[in-house]
Amino acid sequence: MLNLKKELEYIKYNNLYRYLRRKENNTLDFSSNDYLCLSKHPEVIDAAREGLKYGLGSTGSRLTSGNINHEVLEEKIAEFKGTERALVYPTGYSTNIGVISSLCKRGDLILSDELNHASIIDGCRLSKADVEIYNHCNIDNLRNIIEEKGKNYNNIFIITDGVFSMDGDIAPLKDIIKIGEEYNGIVIVDDAHGTGVLGNGKGTLKHFNLKPADNIIQIGTLSKAIGGLGGFVCGIEEVIEYLINTSRSFIYSTALPPSVVSGSIRSLELIEEGDLTKKLQGNIREANRIFKKYNLIKGDSLTPIYPIVLGEKTMATSEYLIKNKIFAIGIRYPTVPRGLERIRISINVGHRREDFERLCRLLMISFNEV
Ligand SMILES: Cc1ncc(COP(=O)(O)O)c(C=O)c1O
Repeated sequence: MLNLKKELEYIKYNNLYRYLRRKENNTLDFSSNDYLCLSKHPEVIDAAREGLKYGLGSTGSRLTSGNINHEVLEEKIAEFKGTERALVYPTGYSTNIGVISSLCKRGDLILSDELNHASIIDGCRLSKADVEIYNHCNIDNLRNIIEEKGKNYNNIFIITDGVFSMDGDIAPLKDIIKIGEEYNGIVIVDDAHGTGVLGNGKGTLKHFNLKPADNIIQIGTLSKAIGGLGGFVCGIEEVIEYLINTSRSFIYSTALPPSVVSGSIRSLELIEEGDLTKKLQGNIREANRIFKKYNLIKGDSLTPIYPIVLGEKTMATSEYLIKNKIFAIGIRYPTVPRGLERIRISINVGHRREDFERLCRLLMISFNEV
């Protein structure tokens, strides 16, 4: 018989107990990844409604009955990212585990940033490749590890978030791609938080004026700035065809609902129009100004993610904010390292100056009260 009670008690004892909570209607939300507020955009909702004509669910995997309007979205994503092809998965999580476990094999070496998202970590664990972790965004450390350990492998993969989900910083992609080229490696960039945010919405590559290339594979989600659900991978024809044939989380899972597909297509069109990404950048500048005024950050952020690192006071501070109608969630170990627990503030195009002020004022009061 399972005895989970003891383990749950242990989790509670360590102050790591997770529970589900609902956002109340009249709270000011600083927790969602809906950076462009597209999940509630009337034109996106209309498009999703139109997609319902195909039914509520897709009724099967893409390789059986579930291939409905998905290829239209894939063409749109490939055009948007400037790649030969794109392939859509049911979630961003399943994209990472499906792509990494399929492409990275026994006899290959993966170099993975220490702060990569859990879905990358799980993809690495599922793959049969050897895995080495390099220090966060540390190019010298990355190079040293390749020099020391990278001999005699069939393929070398460097895998990194484009924008790091818990810190909001940006991977030094120019240098990473240069190293990839030097060592004949393949770079996989998970741009879950760069897509719709950086480079006029096109993502981290575009932010650095880097062009898609045969040795670069881009991953993204439809669940954050695009406001829907699902993940995608972009690259050359050969990679996509290989994934269709071998990637287990693509093959053995029901395809996205067609309404989500239609809504996501409209989201991408709206992003391409450009106003929303400009507005987000304007709001990031405004938040930078106000957060700096309250000493909450030191330098300017280029992304809408602001980690307010409070260590052991994190969860109590988050409770305090929520009690006072600001929805801002505390992030603990193992999502972030011990000692670096934080409130992850994410801002969006719907926030106004007074919202940032209200958040900062309440945080200041909480520092005295918690
Ligand atoms: C960097 C990164 N990659 C992948 C994912 C997973 O995406 P999804 O939520 O669409 O499964 C997330 C979501 O938190 C993420 O932050």
